[in-house]
Amino acid sequence: MDHFTYIDGQLSAEDVPLKALAEAYGTPFYCYSTATLVRHYTVFADALAGLDAHIHYAVKANANIAVLSTLASLGAGADIVSLGELKLTLAAGIPASKTVFSGVGKTADEMRGALEAGVHQLNVESLEELAVLSEVASGMGVMAPVAIRVNPDVDAKTHKKITTGLSENKFGIAWAQAEDVFNQARNMAGIDVVGVAVHIGSQLTDLVPYRAAYTKVRDLVERLRAQGFDIRVVDLGGGLGIPYEAENPPSPAEYGAMVKEIMGDIGCPLAFEPGRMIVGNAGVLVSRVVYVKKGIDRTFLILDAAMNDLIRPAMYDAYHAVVAVDEPASDARAPVDIVGPVCESGDTFARQRDMPVLQAGDLVAFRSAGAYGAVMSSTYNGRDLVPEILVNGAAHALVAERYTIDDMIKRQRIPDWLDNATPKEATG
Ligand code: LLP
Repeated sequence: MDHFTYIDGQLSAEDVPLKALAEAYGTPFYCYSTATLVRHYTVFADALAGLDAHIHYAVKANANIAVLSTLASLGAGADIVSLGELKLTLAAGIPASKTVFSGVGKTADEMRGALEAGVHQLNVESLEELAVLSEVASGMGVMAPVAIRVNPDVDAKTHKKITTGLSENKFGIAWAQAEDVFNQARNMAGIDVVGVAVHIGSQLTDLVPYRAAYTKVRDLVERLRAQGFDIRVVDLGGGLGIPYEAENPPSPAEYGAMVKEIMGDIGCPLAFEPGRMIVGNAGVLVSRVVYVKKGIDRTFLILDAAMNDLIRPAMYDAYHAVVAVDEPASDARAPVDIVGPVCESGDTFARQRDMPVLQAGDLVAFRSAGAYGAVMSSTYNGRDLVPEILVNGAAHALVAERYTIDDMIKRQRIPDWLDNATPKEATG
C-alpha cells in the first residue's frame, strides 16, 4: 500500500497534487512519500517483532539523505557498499555503529575509513579481502568485526542481473569453501569473526529460495559453533520483492514467520538489509508528454523523462506502471509505446502498453520508482539529474536540487594544449 492516490481527480502524493509540484519544480522529478516510507519500514519491523532483529536499510536502493534521515528517525541502521554511502548515512544521522559495510571489492582505503568511523560490521566476501582487512586492522591496532558472506548456491528465481546466490555469481564465499575460510579467518590477527551473512538476490517473489538458503546458513552456524566459533550475528540480507505488475511477493509477515521458523532459536541477533521493499513503492517519477507521435503501426508517447532518469526498463526489462496524473475521465484506452528522448531504441519504458488517451503537455507518473530510480540516473545525452521532492502530509520539500548542464561543465576542464582555439601542431 502506498500514499499516491487520486484526490479530486488529481494524482497526489499524500495531500499534495503532483501537478502542483510539476509547476513548482519542473519535470521530470522524483517524488517520495514520507507516510509510505514510514508504513513500509514499520510493517517490516513489526513482521520481525519477537526476534532480536536489526534493520540495516540498503542505502543503494535510494540514497537521498532526506529519505535516509526519515528512516533514521524510525531507528533504521544502514547497509552500505562504499565510503560514499557511509558519508551519506552519517550526513543523514545514521550512526556508524548501526552500519554494515557490504560489497565484493572494498579497497584498503575504504576498510580504513570504515574502521576509523567505527562501523558495526564488515561483510567480507573473499579470502583475498580478509587478508587485506586483517592487515589494515592490525596496522591500526584494532580487530575488524567481520561477518563472512557465504554463497549458498540457491537460485533466487529473479532476473539474472540481480541474482547473487548462485555459484556462478561473484558474491560470497563458495559454499564448499566456507568452513575452511572461517577457519583461516580466525587465525588472522586483525579479524574478529562475529557472524555469517547471506544475500541471494533482489526482487524475490517466492519464499522457497529464501527458505533453502536460510536453512543452509542455519546448518552452517551450528557446524561453526561446534568448532568453537562465537557466532554473534546472522545477517540474512535483503531482497524481498514488491508488486510492480502482477507479481504477488510474500508479505513481510509471511517472510517474518519463515525467518522465525528457521532462525527463531538461533540465539543471537539477526540482521536484515531490506532496500526495495522499504522505498520502492514510496516513490514516483513524474514526467510530461512532449509529443504523441502517430506512426503507421503504432503510436509513441514521447516523454521528457528518459532511460538516464529511470534505467530499470532498459536494463532489466523491468515493468513500471505508468499512470495519468489527471485522473482519466473515461475508461478508453489504446496501446502506445512509452519512450524517452534519448537517442537509443533501448530508451523505451513500455511497448504496446494500454494507456488512457493523452495529449502533449499531459503529466504521467511512473509508479514504484522509489528504489533504484534516482540512484541509478546519469547525465547521458547532456541531460540534468532531476530534482527529488519529499512530501509529508501537506508539506513538500526539495530534497535534491536539479544537477544541470552548467554543473557538468563546471567539473570539466580543457587541457592547456587546447587552450587557444586553433589546433597546435604536434611537436617532437
Ligand atoms: N544487501 C545486499 C548485499 C545487496 O546486494 C542488496 C541489493 C540488498 C541488500 C538490497 O536488496 P533489496 O532489498 O533492495 O532487493 N538495481 C537493481 C537491484 C540491484 C540490487 C543490488 N543489491 C534493480 O533495479 O532491480
